[in-house]
Amino acid sequence: MQTTLYDELGEENLRTLVDRFYDLVFENEQIAHLFKTDKNEIKERQRLFLTQFFGGPALYSEKFGHPRLRARHMPHIITQDDAVAWLSCMSVALKDLPIDEALKDELFKRFVPTAMFMVNQDEN
Ligand code: HEM
Repeated sequence: MQTTLYDELGEENLRTLVDRFYDLVFENEQIAHLFKTDKNEIKERQRLFLTQFFGGPALYSEKFGHPRLRARHMPHIITQDDAVAWLSCMSVALKDLPIDEALKDELFKRFVPTAMFMVNQDEN
């Protein structure tokens, strides 16, 4: 069986990553204002989503149906600057994980196109 990024990262590291990531997001002056849901709820949804995004079991879809990620982000105005801020929080959250640099790079690379795809508003 092929090893997935989820296997390489591991459940515990994913939990830590999501935890640190939203702690940073909720303090980020560019994007914090967009997040209105309870922090623990959004952490849980993202943990379920990233489990399947990185090749693990389809936990998010089992609970919430097809992710339709871009559609789910449409109620929020997301600019390119917001995507960059989101990615910079992710980069910081990845930094301190006890995993290889190569795996960090691999994971980060997966986030970039998805974050850019969520942009739904021109700047200004
Ligand atoms: C580009 C920058 C992004 C911004 C500004 C953003 C913002 C948001 C906001 C405001 C919410 C709703 C939070 C709430 O209910 O309070 C949300 C939900 C979510 N986002 Fe993002 N997001 C971005 C990129 C991403 C990316 C790249 C992913 C995945 C790799 C992602 C995955 C999710 C998931 C799984 C949810 C929960 C959806 C649900 O079940 O309702 N987001 N995001």
